[in-house]
Amino acid sequence: MQKDMSPFTPGSPVGIDLFAGREQQLMEITRYIRQAGSGRQENVFLIGDRGIGKSSFASVMCELADRRHGMIGVHVHLGGAAALEELTRRVLQEVMNAVQDRPWYARITERYTPYIQQVGLMGIKVSFHPPSQDLSQMAQQFPQVLGELLARIANDQKGVVIVLDDINGFAETNTFARWYKSVVDEVATHFPAYPALIALSGTPERRDQLARHEPSLLRVFRLIELERLSDDEVTDFFQRAFGQADMSVSDEAMNMMVHFSSGLPVMMQEIGDATFWSDSDGIIGLDDAQAGVTDSAITVGRKYLEPSVFRDLRSPRYHTIIRKIADSIASTFTRKEVMSRLTHDEQRVFDNLLRRLRKAGVVEQDRERGRGAYRFTNQIYPVYMWIESQQSHWLNN
Ligand SMILES: Nc1ncnc2c1ncn2[C@@H]1O[C@H](COP(=O)(O)OP(=O)(O)O)[C@@H](O)[C@H]1O
Ligand SMILES: [Mg+2]
Repeated sequence: MQKDMSPFTPGSPVGIDLFAGREQQLMEITRYIRQAGSGRQENVFLIGDRGIGKSSFASVMCELADRRHGMIGVHVHLGGAAALEELTRRVLQEVMNAVQDRPWYARITERYTPYIQQVGLMGIKVSFHPPSQDLSQMAQQFPQVLGELLARIANDQKGVVIVLDDINGFAETNTFARWYKSVVDEVATHFPAYPALIALSGTPERRDQLARHEPSLLRVFRLIELERLSDDEVTDFFQRAFGQADMSVSDEAMNMMVHFSSGLPVMMQEIGDATFWSDSDGIIGLDDAQAGVTDSAITVGRKYLEPSVFRDLRSPRYHTIIRKIADSIASTFTRKEVMSRLTHDEQRVFDNLLRRLRKAGVVEQDRERGRGAYRFTNQIYPVYMWIESQQSHWLNN
């Protein structure tokens, strides 16, 4: 069977056609989008761990805003930015990009014309680079600047949905928190109608950081939490994705892929993709799924584990211990039980290793099973550790 393109998208946001689950969150965000469209400014915090699907949710949200609610959807990636000026620049630039094929594009951008360039193949992207002085003024007067844009599009669009994706560095100091609070206050006091929904996305830790800087800020946000998908949702996703490629999946293969996905979108995409490429006859059987899980475990280890953990897992100091934990491929273990299987030397470094694995998010406390109980945060990590430990075992013996 000749294969050209995998339906899976590891490493990039999923398209609306293969978007899995999140029905309740989509219903909720739809309500807020509609309220914003009627003139009430809304603020949303999209919260979830890395890889859970924040960026994917954000892009589906923007698409819905555009297709169903007559609002402009603007997805702004904040990666690498840490200054309000840069944030402002990117927001305005992405608004321009979102509307550049509309007949009224020139009308809304005329005052910025000197700072706008068409870049890329056939001038398909707008790049916006005002002088830094103007930019810092725009950042300070963000509510007015955005308000003016909203006024200019009011005849054609209901408003705008802006996602500030991955607030990361902005949560580290109080500058952003204060700025955001003042934007919201300014809008509330000076604009009778302000049809804009602004959503931030970040991990729970980032939200806590923001709250520490500006406790009153949290009250302005509606919280949308993204958690693991259910096994049914993952099953449905695999069915649709392989279906798209005209492939069928046996029950055992499905169970295996679903189990190792652990409800995590990032894992399900990696496993699906590796399995897709392992198969050779268009029928996904248990052997294909096994090969897919193994291959994806190696990819996941290299791509998602922090380099320091990656090194730990290969260090001679730890590798015999890792073999002992990973050998059983149990997804949960207790400190006591592992200790009982370790040599004296291994015992001395085990707590250190455990601490490092916890810090890196590889294992977490399993509170339901009491003190001293731990579990891997997903089912793929122990597979990866097992593969690594087999290799180091083989290399060292
Ligand atoms: N609802 C979903 N359905 C299918 N795949 C998803 C879904 N959400 C995320 N993914 C996939 O999971 C991976 C991580 O998603 P992403 O949106 O980048 O997460 P985050 O922004 O939270 O780190 C990507 O490969 C993406 O395609
Ligand atoms: Mg993201």
